[in-house]
Amino acid sequence: MGDVLLDIRDLYVEFKVYEGKLKVLNGVFLSVREGQRVGLVGEAGCGKTTTMKCVLRILPSPPGRITEGEILFRGEDILQMPPRKVQLIRGRRISMIFQDPTAALNPVFTIGDQLMTVIRYGSRNSLPKKEIRQRAIKALQEVQLPDPERILASYPIQLSGGMRQRVCIAMALSTEPELLIADEPTTNLDVTIQDQVLRLLNALVERRNTSVIFITHSLGVVREMADWVYVMYAGNIIEGGPKEELFREPLHPYTRGLMRAVPKLTGGGIAEGVPGRIPDYLDPPSGCRFHPRCEHAMPRCSQEKPPFLPVTGEHRVACFLYQG
Ligand SMILES: Nc1ncnc2c1ncn2[C@@H]1O[C@H](COP(=O)(O)OP(=O)(O)OP(=O)(O)O)[C@@H](O)[C@H]1O
Ligand code: SF4
Ligand SMILES: [Mg+2]
Repeated sequence: MGDVLLDIRDLYVEFKVYEGKLKVLNGVFLSVREGQRVGLVGEAGCGKTTTMKCVLRILPSPPGRITEGEILFRGEDILQMPPRKVQLIRGRRISMIFQDPTAALNPVFTIGDQLMTVIRYGSRNSLPKKEIRQRAIKALQEVQLPDPERILASYPIQLSGGMRQRVCIAMALSTEPELLIADEPTTNLDVTIQDQVLRLLNALVERRNTSVIFITHSLGVVREMADWVYVMYAGNIIEGGPKEELFREPLHPYTRGLMRAVPKLTGGGIAEGVPGRIPDYLDPPSGCRFHPRCEHAMPRCSQEKPPFLPVTGEHRVACFLYQG
């Protein structure tokens, strides 16, 4: 594996709301190496999108606020960069495919306008119009959209959901980013289309050796797409490591619950194997945030926060069961 590309260290985020402060991210650690395909799994509301918004510096603020942490991109802290420098990274060196492709595209501009703007903005030197158009066509061909000329002239509403998501993938990859963040890129698509879009995305990043973070609720997707896995629970990464190892021997009680739930994961949601719900962020549990749901909880678990430490090799877990 290559050098560390992205290194999120001890990231804390809170949202100020009418009732008080939602303490959402609670010290997130996550790193991605060059060429690595990372799967980030966790149930709805655990903070996956919030973490990625911090990486791109697009967290709405207010209400959001990063209170602690570092996000190193090739060793430099994105959170300390001046806005101009962040602009050179966002959309060019790191790009993101959002959960909802309809929301990501502007309904009043054609696909061509939007895709060509991204290509123009993303290229390091200014390109002639003809070249930009050719690149747009090539980008649409790469995501296997038929009749690219017609698609360039279309408005988002004239395309199906699957086609729109392919356009978003084309946009995100058109600038040849070093890191692609794919946030549940197929949630709103039909199951059969989901599969096709994921396969396509996987083939494209593999060919280019792009580092990727795949965000998903589905362990099945992780199994197919990722070579490294992180599991998130209520604002913390609670386990991480090489995929084979994590599937062979999940360590954290929450991850074990998820794995038990896999056969039942047909649409029912991720947490069926773990009784209870994700906690309230206004007043989250002290110590290990999983302790109210954990069958192994010890007195210490409600008093101290378990650090995220290696158990064997690079397999890390935040749980006192593995720490002396
Ligand atoms: N703009 C906001 N204002 C207030 N609270 C927010 C805001 N955005 C996120 N949150 C809070 O942060 C929590 C985590 O949200 P986030 O979108 O990061 O979760 P997620 O893991 O991406 O979930 P999903 O799988 O549903 O996409 C939410 O439960 C919500 O309480
Ligand atoms: S630290 Fe304690 S409460 Fe948390 S998962 Fe481990 S055993 Fe359970
Ligand atoms: Mg999300």
